[in-house]
Amino acid sequence: MQKNLTPDKKDMKLKLSDLQEKINRLETLINTSMVFSSILDLGELLNIVMTKAEEVMEAEASSVFLIDKSKKELYFITARGEKGKEAKEIRVPMGKGIVGWVAEHGRPLLVPDVTKDSRWFKGVDKKTKFVTRSIIAVPLISKGKIIGVSEVLNKKGNRNFNENDLELFEALGNQIAIAIENASLYTELDELFLSSIRAIVEAIDAKDPYTKGHSSRVVEYSLLVGEALADISKDELKQLEVSATLHDVGKIGVPDRILGKTGKLTPVEYAYMQRHSEFGSAIIEPIAKLRELIPNIMHHHERFDGKGYPDGLKGERIPLFARIICIADSFDAMTTDRPYRKKRSIQKALLELERRSGTQFDPKLTKIFIMVCKRRKLT
Ligand SMILES: [Fe+2]
Repeated sequence: MQKNLTPDKKDMKLKLSDLQEKINRLETLINTSMVFSSILDLGELLNIVMTKAEEVMEAEASSVFLIDKSKKELYFITARGEKGKEAKEIRVPMGKGIVGWVAEHGRPLLVPDVTKDSRWFKGVDKKTKFVTRSIIAVPLISKGKIIGVSEVLNKKGNRNFNENDLELFEALGNQIAIAIENASLYTELDELFLSSIRAIVEAIDAKDPYTKGHSSRVVEYSLLVGEALADISKDELKQLEVSATLHDVGKIGVPDRILGKTGKLTPVEYAYMQRHSEFGSAIIEPIAKLRELIPNIMHHHERFDGKGYPDGLKGERIPLFARIICIADSFDAMTTDRPYRKKRSIQKALLELERRSGTQFDPKLTKIFIMVCKRRKLT
């Protein structure tokens, strides 16, 4: 009797640990799905997912490759692990190595010992000085087409990957493929949206030959400052770009006879012209995607000393991006011809920015703008 009990208990233990493993894996899949639905930046998303994949499969490193169809090569979109940075510069020809084989055949591979596999391509290890022992590589398939390959390398503790690992990694591969598809759809939509906005704004700028190209230059100058700021995210830079693009969209509500007037504006006309920041905010208000940018557009004519419009906000109460756009806008106005005056040289415009730093402009941001301009040899 005793003899019979022991194997049963063992079996039960095995089954319990199997079950626990399955629960852990299910949890990983659910967690990754949640990550997928909340992050649309592909690089960031894959980094999180592959960190989790490495953790669950106890792998030393992992990568995701995409296929460059025109060059018939695979390139790294994510390469994690000690030598990830070096690996990112490498391209793998289609059909070459284990990854190339998976991309060509669209089938997953579990290779417990790469040295015994004739498909093994040593090129990547040679360049990265990473020593690959074992690999699981799965194809990334979207709408029936192979778009890339995902792999995990070396099971920790000198162990081998097993069929369970392969099964889980295949499931993750399916989700990664969907995420890539979603992210590229999102990027396409975003690009479409941005190019529509640009087209509208360019049409407004072009109404007046003196402001042609103004908004795109304001974007360029604003981003010079934005990129020089510490701790600014990609998303925030995008917000700055769209805000700068749209800063004068409200001019569409200002009559042409005021916009194009070559002589001095009457006080009434000037007051009307000033209302363009409010008009701009009202125009974008109904667009949910743009609503959070309203303060940047509304306040791009505020002055650091509180003497600007429309609300006379002072110092850092003026939104950061509005303060940046204000500098970029004034710099472009100074360095382009206007009907009532000739343009200044870039050096003179920078001196003027310096002179008005602390009164009209945020002194810290002005300093950054001047520094970046000099570094980029805009002068
Ligand atoms: Fe403006």
